[in-house]
Order: sequence, then structure tokens, then C-alpha cells
Amino acid sequence: MLTATQYSSHELIALEEAHGAHNYHPLPVVLDRGEGVFLYDVEGKRYYDFLSAYSAVNQGHCHPHIIKALTEQAQKLTLTSRAFYNSVLGVYEKFITDFFGYDRVLPMNTGVEGGETAIKLCRKWAYKIKQVPENQAKIIFVENNFWGRTLAAVSSSTDPSSYKDYGPFLPGFEIIPYNDLAALEKALQDPHVAGFMVEPIQGEAGVVVPDAGYLKKAYELCKAKNVLFIADEVQTGIARTGKLTACEHEGFKPDILILGKALSGGVLPVSAVLTSHEVMLTIRPGEHGSTFGGNPLACKVAMAALEVVENEKLSENSEKMGILFRKRMEEMIAKTDLVTLVRGKGLLNAIVINDTEDSPTAWNICLALRDNGLLAKPTHGNIIRFAPPLVMTETQLHECCDIIENTILNFKK
Ligand SMILES: Cc1ncc(COP(=O)(O)O)c(C=O)c1O
Repeated sequence: MLTATQYSSHELIALEEAHGAHNYHPLPVVLDRGEGVFLYDVEGKRYYDFLSAYSAVNQGHCHPHIIKALTEQAQKLTLTSRAFYNSVLGVYEKFITDFFGYDRVLPMNTGVEGGETAIKLCRKWAYKIKQVPENQAKIIFVENNFWGRTLAAVSSSTDPSSYKDYGPFLPGFEIIPYNDLAALEKALQDPHVAGFMVEPIQGEAGVVVPDAGYLKKAYELCKAKNVLFIADEVQTGIARTGKLTACEHEGFKPDILILGKALSGGVLPVSAVLTSHEVMLTIRPGEHGSTFGGNPLACKVAMAALEVVENEKLSENSEKMGILFRKRMEEMIAKTDLVTLVRGKGLLNAIVINDTEDSPTAWNICLALRDNGLLAKPTHGNIIRFAPPLVMTETQLHECCDIIENTILNFKK
């Protein structure tokens, strides 16, 4: 039997083709090792990672502090289930609630489970506290949202590739345009509205940044109608946009905060839902949970991952590097017709390619970037997201901008 590294890239791709589900379309590069801002393929070629596993690896690949926490705890206790107490969960719950300034946390695993949990909490609160009549609670979402692949998530999606052929869908969801306060104000007239769930910057939609003030005003509109503002910060949270949470840019604290991805530095699936005593305690024992949620291994890893964010000042670095990155991209755009704009906050950015949505240009640019030693992926058609680990230094970032600029300026359609 061959071990993984004895296969060539070509053979490993063929194995996935032959034996796996075809629910992804990866860029053809087979990665074997990661360290900091770098990834290495099975043939040993080095790349700058400009995706960070969709912002899960903010702390850089295999960060020693996180891996130490993982390996130490893995040899001691990994899982008890919540049938019993464990020696780490309470410590973690105090740590994370202090870290983000909330009363309570509900630990889950994947980001989408965090979203599901937030919606269940919101509905429970609507019936128990707000007194919405049974089964009438409504949650408002925005167009082009993305929060995962469960039936609730696809029921609130406007992207046919997410929802098509998966019906019937969950009721109780209303979808309004993003970045549109008038539409929100109108939707909030319904007294059965319990929550408004939104990404502060839409990641999968192509790093779409709303107008300054939109989020804060949306929060105030929700407050005026006794509606919970649910921030899906699974992608934008944990320093990605230059602050610990993207909502901090507008100086408010959402009623429910959903975190995932980089909460473990990309080491394990760890997500969390943070909220007030009032909202959290509407769910009683036996009414929600997960076998793995709150396991001691995940709790130790998450604490280590957040310590790295603080100790290495990743928010500050993300903010600073983001400004530098967009400046370099603006300078590049001035020299080419191939890219029309750069947008983003901190180190969550995207460039828009001057071509139709269904053209292969963005994909082909990503292939050329790969050949030049940098890995990125188109989000929607003609948009390429750039989200490197937040531990990137200024020298490294300049080197990456040189690669991007050389690739774009020499690209032939
Ligand atoms: C904003 C947002 N929410 C939720 C999710 C779902 O996270 P997961 O894939 O861990 O379920 C994602 C994943 O990309 C996301 O970007």
C-alpha cells in the first residue's frame, strides 16, 4: 500500500476523481504541507497561500503554539461528550466570553452549525421572551448571503447553485437586498420578525463591503423593533478585517455573534455562538447540542488560537497589511484594463476582473498565479478573493503583490 506522499499530484487528483463525490472543483494543485504563510505541494514546490482555507488559517499554517495545545491535550483527553463535565470547557467558556465581551457561549463545530444554533436561539427567544405566536417567527436575511450548506442555509440562499433541487425549503425566512436600509426598515414592520442575520462583509459573494454606517444603522433599526441582530462573522471575525470582529469597525456589538473557521486556526472544526444571558438561557437542557461541541481538545485549541491573535497583534497587522495591499493593487490597476477594482477591509480583499461572469478569465489567472507561486481562487465568476494568513510580513506582502502584478500584467486571455 502506498502512503499519500508516494503518489504524484496527477495520481492524487485521479484518485479523488474516481472515488470522491464531485461536489468541489479544486484548482489543480495538491498540497502536502503548510507552514506560516506557505503551502508546499507533493512535489515540494512552495506557494504563498492567498486563501487561508477561506479565512480559517488566519494564524498561519500549523502555528506552533496551537499545535502544541493540540498535541498536549490530544494525549490527555479528547472527548467526553456533554453527558459529563470536562476539565477544559468551563475555562474556555470564561476565556472566550471575556475575550469577545459576551455573557455566554454555546460551542459547536462547523460554521454552519453556528448559524443553525443562532437561528434556533433567535426563534426560541422570539417565542419565550418576545411573545411571537407559535411557529410565526421570521428571520430576515439578505441577498447573496452565504452561511453554509445545511437545509436551513440553502433555504435562505439566493444562489441557485446552493438551493436548486434541494427543496422543499424551510419557511419563516425573508430575503431583502443587502446594503439597503429602506428594505430593512420595511421588513421590520412585521411584528413577528425575530432576527436579522447578516455577514458584515459578504465573503463568498465576492468580498462585498456595504456602505459605511449601514451595519450600525441596521443594528439601531433592529433595536427599535426588539429584533435580534445576528452577525455571521464566521469569515470576517478573528482579526480578518483588521479588527477582532468586523462589527467593531462600526462600534457596535451584535446581539448574537457567530464565529468559526479561525477560532481554531484551521486546526479543527470549532465554532461558537456568543450572546446575552437572556437569549442563551431560553434554551434548556436537552433542547440543543452536539456530541463534539465543547470537547476539551477543541476548547484548548481555540484558546491557543485566540492567544496567537492577541500575542501577535493580528488585528493590527491585518489592518496595516490590508492598506498596503489595496494600495499596491490600485497602482497595478492603473497599468491594466484587465482588473477594474480592488475592495475589502484588512486582509479580506478581492479584485474584480474585467470580463463576463461566466468567462474563464479569473480561473485562468488563478492558474497563472499558481504557476508563479501564489494560490488564490475565484469566488463568483470574475472575482478573485485574496485572503492570506494574517501573520504575513511587509516584505512577504510586497513579494506577493509583485507576483500578482507580474501575473496580471503578463496575462494573455
Ligand atoms: C460567512 C460564512 N458563514 C458560515 C460559513 C459556513 O462555515 P462551515 O463551512 O464551517 O460550515 C461560511 C463558510 O464559508 C461563511 O463564509
